[in-house]
Amino acid sequence: MANKNLANAKKAKNDEFYTRFEDINKEVQAYLEYDPDVFRGKIVLCPCDDPYESNFFKFFALMFNKLGLKKLIATCFAGSPIANTQLSLFDDEQVENKTTRVPHKIEITEVEEPPESGLQGLENIEWLLANRKNVLTRLEGDGDFRSDEITKLRDEADIIVTNPPFSQFRDFVAWIFEVQKQFLIIGNMNAITYKEIFPLIKENKMWLGVTEFNKGMYFYVPDGFVYSPTYKFEREIDGQKVNRVAGCCWFTNIDHGRRHKPLELMTMEKNLKRSRELKGKDSYDKYDNYDAIEVPSFITIPDDYDGAMGVPITFLDKYCPEQFEILGATESEGKGFSKGLWDETSKVSQALVNGQKVYKRIFIKKVEHKNEKQTKSAKADGVSNCPLCAIGNDANKSKIWLIKEMDADHVTAWSKGGVTDVSNCQMLCKVHNRAKGNK
Ligand SMILES: C[S@@+](CC[C@H](N)C(=O)[O-])C[C@H]1O[C@@H](n2cnc3c(N)ncnc32)[C@H](O)[C@@H]1O
Repeated sequence: MANKNLANAKKAKNDEFYTRFEDINKEVQAYLEYDPDVFRGKIVLCPCDDPYESNFFKFFALMFNKLGLKKLIATCFAGSPIANTQLSLFDDEQVENKTTRVPHKIEITEVEEPPESGLQGLENIEWLLANRKNVLTRLEGDGDFRSDEITKLRDEADIIVTNPPFSQFRDFVAWIFEVQKQFLIIGNMNAITYKEIFPLIKENKMWLGVTEFNKGMYFYVPDGFVYSPTYKFEREIDGQKVNRVAGCCWFTNIDHGRRHKPLELMTMEKNLKRSRELKGKDSYDKYDNYDAIEVPSFITIPDDYDGAMGVPITFLDKYCPEQFEILGATESEGKGFSKGLWDETSKVSQALVNGQKVYKRIFIKKVEHKNEKQTKSAKADGVSNCPLCAIGNDANKSKIWLIKEMDADHVTAWSKGGVTDVSNCQMLCKVHNRAKGNK
């Protein structure tokens, strides 16, 4: 029991990682580039965010007018294991006896021009609250995201944005998916293959954000944070204590441009000739226990193979649903996950190549590309394979573009209800795709 308590305390302590403003800004800008109105008229909820600490709250408060937000709500959880030093928020608080946060919520509906110093610092939250349209209230419960009062706020919100407690990621995602909301959250890349998460990714109900996850992310940590003995990265950024977490990534269902950029790949033959990872091989390896070829990295995915391919999960960072379909994952991630590719008689659920286990794999297959069909029929008709060039009157009217000169386009914009599957996609030359924007 004592061990369990210790483990829980350790987990909870690891939940006290605070996201940097810069990382939030970098990620959100990519969604705005794709659709400048993505937040316009929306209610944003940050449900694991003490406004006095959270850069999510600060970011959205600072950008309130620029994004055109209708309302910003942040709620703070009481159960922090870290005694905090924030000012007494409510008159009846005993500051000296305070060992946990007082659960509260802040609701912002109007932000006047922010002071030059931005919103960093307590005094600026007081400044936001000086406007009577903005309120800070004490919560009835402890601010747990699953509680009725926070769930009500979830129902009121349009977009949920936060870095939820690492130890409760599964529950948090399940809570978001109880309703249809947009979300942008941080999690660990290992979550990709959780049996509760992977099906959502496979069905394109959730995907990875824009920031590449193989770089690791720095988070602010409390003063008492103890580094692992092998830690060899920065310990301080901008005068604040930080810890680098490997394999962190953003999970979202908000569309962004990177997702629609097909990977530029080589044929099987060229890969076998040029790739260091495939050196000395005449052909790609086949798994002993899965009906698929082994592809060691996203860069060695052949663009001319039509069967099932096993790829490392880092592929999802580059995944473009118009280019590949996700068939499933190895059975070690969940029963039935490989969609019949597994040879059950092998009794080994991890993928094997010549008897050797390989790392986690997901299985993908080339989408019979709209571009190929489009190009074939355009050539037959003697017109450009960009349908918008084909109806124009200039020299491009009959130009056949290369795939790298084109981008995938939603026929009906995703923000207007268009789905991300082949039926709703066409390829346009880059100029026309850019001009079409989110229309
Ligand atoms: C990883 S930290 C991130 C904090 C903040 N969202 C940020 O990104 O800077 C997770 C936060 O969730 C809070 N938390 C832990 N359990 C919670 C729960 N059940 N409901 C709501 N918040 C919780 C923790 O106290 C912690 O502040």
